[in-house]
Amino acid sequence: MSSMRPAAAVTIQDFTSEVNGTALAEDALDGLTRPFKELPPKYFYDSTGALLFDQICDLPEYYPTRTEAALLKEHAAGIVARTGASELVELGSGYATKTRILLAEMDRAGSLLRYVPIDVNDAVIRGVAAELTDDFPSLAVHGIIGDFERDLCRIPQAEGPRIVAFLGGTIGNFPPGARRRFLREISGLMRSQDRLLIGHDLVKDPAVIEAAYNDSAGITAAFNRHILRVLNLELGANFEPDAFEHVAFFDPGHEWIEMRLRATREMDVHVAAIDLDVRFADQEEIRTEISAKFTRERLTADLAAAGLELDDLLTDRDELYGLSLSSLAD
Ligand code: SAH
Ligand code: AVI
Repeated sequence: MSSMRPAAAVTIQDFTSEVNGTALAEDALDGLTRPFKELPPKYFYDSTGALLFDQICDLPEYYPTRTEAALLKEHAAGIVARTGASELVELGSGYATKTRILLAEMDRAGSLLRYVPIDVNDAVIRGVAAELTDDFPSLAVHGIIGDFERDLCRIPQAEGPRIVAFLGGTIGNFPPGARRRFLREISGLMRSQDRLLIGHDLVKDPAVIEAAYNDSAGITAAFNRHILRVLNLELGANFEPDAFEHVAFFDPGHEWIEMRLRATREMDVHVAAIDLDVRFADQEEIRTEISAKFTRERLTADLAAAGLELDDLLTDRDELYGLSLSSLAD
């Protein structure tokens, strides 16, 4: 019963006004005035975008979510036993559906004390905090509503051995240099007893990867166009999302998926909040996301550049997806 729960079970720190207000305006100004237009993928995830992503996770073509869930079910007990973790810090936690597999295992092992999710989406952090404290009555949740590229410093001091989880393949949404910088920031938070658990989509047959981003139900296309609706809503822009075509292709040189929106005709768009006029040529594209795919070599090199070493890379039999466990290098 919630009335019996200790008052301190849920703490929420909200940095969204800083994240969504000026940051979106600045990023839109920067991205839409570049020679090749670009928008950062973190702006997909308002409440509608988070729901669209949730639908993507259930698509038959989108193998990452179910493969990662299966890997977690298979290996959670081993991961918890190896780490003895009492805390789970999760970056880009979303609805934390798969996270429950780890939390349940930590609970079973008797070590679970605290969950620290960080996500830009206000509603998911609040909702998940309420649901998890109902399901795990002794759990303390310290939710951080913020940008993990900026707000890692807000993560509280560890109270015991920690797993820092970065699931769903979101690490692939960073370009390579930023990815290493981000891993370095994470390693700066870790102590020798802590472990970093990352979910990575793996390099494989490009047809399988491309199908995951070009689903037949058109949900990924709706998700992609949704970023323009966010600009319309938040910045008073007048994009016509349906006048942009969804484009997603595997770039074999970089081994990443690139998602773009392609103008189907010449267009002039106005972004009122920043008083910006943006001209689109017919067929001009905006890059909205890259989603890098990993090999063991790429992963090991990225981790090493951040002072981390790979303890284990757990994959499914078909090597679609990997869960890596790493720790501070000696
Ligand atoms: N971890 C979940 C969700 C992955 S979707 C899963 O595995 O299913 C990516 C999540 O990261 C979304 O919830 C999104 O809101 C969040 N996110 C994306 N960029 C972010 C940023 N810069 N800071 C904080 N959260 C971010
Ligand atoms: C959250 N991120 C890892 C997803 C991905 O696969 O890159 C977002 C996504 N974009 C299109 N489909 C899913």
